[in-house]
Amino acid sequence: MNGPDHYAVIGNPIAHSKSPQIHARFAEQTGQQIRYERLLAPVDAFEATVKAFIASGGSGANVTVPFKLEAFRFANELSARARAAGAVNTLHVRDRQVFGDNTDGVGLVRDIVEAAGVQISGKRLLLLGAGGAARGVILPLLAESPARLLIANRTPERAAELAAQFSDQLVPIGASSFAELNESFDVVINATSASLSAELPPVPVTVFGSNSFVYDMMYAAQPTPFMQLASGYGAHVRDGLGMLVEQAAESFHIWRGVRPQTAPVYAWLRSTL
Ligand code: ATR
Repeated sequence: MNGPDHYAVIGNPIAHSKSPQIHARFAEQTGQQIRYERLLAPVDAFEATVKAFIASGGSGANVTVPFKLEAFRFANELSARARAAGAVNTLHVRDRQVFGDNTDGVGLVRDIVEAAGVQISGKRLLLLGAGGAARGVILPLLAESPARLLIANRTPERAAELAAQFSDQLVPIGASSFAELNESFDVVINATSASLSAELPPVPVTVFGSNSFVYDMMYAAQPTPFMQLASGYGAHVRDGLGMLVEQAAESFHIWRGVRPQTAPVYAWLRSTL
């Protein structure tokens, strides 16, 4: 097929996705010729949409809400981190096979460790939430060798189930309700969807120490209510905009074999909010 390789971000809704602009900047910066578009899939027709995209010559796709589980089932081959996440956000078509990967967790880790300069190794980590977003980041977090990881969730049974899935890992991993939390943590990551509805996960503020680094996987023009709360207790805070850029960079690397610089794209994206 002639013309630049063709990529898309598939979701529903999709109109507000920033991925096309991010990937256009990565391509420009690295001198790669690509075409990248938004693709709206009907909620009941992810598979038909992605099949048609591949049949038309599509080389790869990002997959977003609500299709990451369907993309996981659709892929012929899965990375270890996609399997651990139970979800796929990156599809790569190669040799007529569809490879499924998940770049969300490594995107989070790179944003924390490289962009924010905060080490995870040896730290006490608290992960809030036990849904898909939380599960998606656990394996890459554990790969940084934190001292331990505690998963806390509004529905504590879900936290326990999730912790059990990773009990074969070297890092000690536990589960808790919010109410039971009674100590501070070095790194606190909000992977609940509470910020989407401008709500706060009801965590006791004892989790925030003056040296805590507190990350909200959501982002907005203004600090989220969770970040505001944590700042009030002296914590250093960061939102999920950098995670968005870093997960995109990892997808770009999977497709193109080159790693774009994320800092200028992050700075530009921040200026547009
Ligand atoms: P996602 O894919 O975004 O993780 P999900 O699988 O529906 O979505 O999970 C949402 C997560 O946010 C869950 O951990 C949920 O807690 P429950 O398991 O108790 O439902 C959490 N969550 C959503 N709204 C919340 C709120 N207002 N306060 C605390 N936790 C919340």
